Amino acid sequence: MDQNQNSLKEMAGKAAVDDLVKSGMKLGLGTGSTAIHAVRRVGELIAQGKLTNITAFATSFQTEIECEKLNIPHFSLNSKQLADGLDLTIDGADEVDPQNRLIKGGGGAMLIEKLAAYASQAYAIIVDESKITNNLGLGFPVPVEVVPEARVQASKALEKLGANVIIREALRKAGPVITEHGNIILDIKFNMVIDPVLMEAELNKIPGVVENGFFTRIKPVVYIARTTGIDIRK
Ligand code: A5P
Repeated sequence: MDQNQNSLKEMAGKAAVDDLVKSGMKLGLGTGSTAIHAVRRVGELIAQGKLTNITAFATSFQTEIECEKLNIPHFSLNSKQLADGLDLTIDGADEVDPQNRLIKGGGGAMLIEKLAAYASQAYAIIVDESKITNNLGLGFPVPVEVVPEARVQASKALEKLGANVIIREALRKAGPVITEHGNIILDIKFNMVIDPVLMEAELNKIPGVVENGFFTRIKPVVYIARTTGIDIRK
C-alpha cells in the first residue's frame, strides 16, 4: 500500500468518526488497515476528553489490541454492557458496489464483523476510492469461512455454484489460515456476474459454511475517500 492510499484510508476513518461518533455511544469497531484509522481517531478523541463514556466492541484480535493500546473500553457482544446492541459500527470493506453492497473479510474477520453490523442501529463503511466496483465477486475474492471438516465437500459445492476456490494460506506458518473460531477460509471468485444477494444466501446453505463475506442485506452509509475529498454515499 502506498502512502497516498494510506492517507485516503485515514481521511475516510477520521471523517466518519468526526461526523457520526458521539459521547455515550456503544460502538462496533471494524478490522483492517482502514478501520484502524477510525479506531485511532476514537482513541485520540477519548484522550483529548472530547469523547466520553464510549463502550466498544472489537471485531477482531487486531482491533482488540488497538483498543487496549488506546484505552478504549471494549466488551464482548454477549456482555451486559452491550446486551442492548450497538449504536454504530464503523468498518472497512474490500469492495463496494453502486448499491452499497459489500465484500468484506480480506482480513478474515467477516463473521464477527457481520455480527457487529447486524447488532448496530447504524452502519458506516469507510473506504478509499480503489474499493469501488460495478460488480461484486469478479475482482476481490469472497471469503467463505468453513469448519475444517467441510473443506472438500464445501469446495465441491462452491464449484457447483460456479466459483473458483482457493484455500487461504497462512503467512509465516505452513498450511491454512485458522480463524479466531478454529475454522478455515475458502476464497472464491466468479468468472461471471452474479447476484450478490442470492449468492450471500446460497453460500450459507452449504453444510459446514459458517459465514461468507457478502454483506448485501444491511445498507451502510459509505465514506469514500478520493483524492478530491470525501464523498458520502447513502
Ligand atoms: C477484515 O476482515 C475485512 O472485512 C476488512 O474490513 C476489509 O478487508 C478491508 O480491509 P482494508 O481496510 O485493510 O482494506
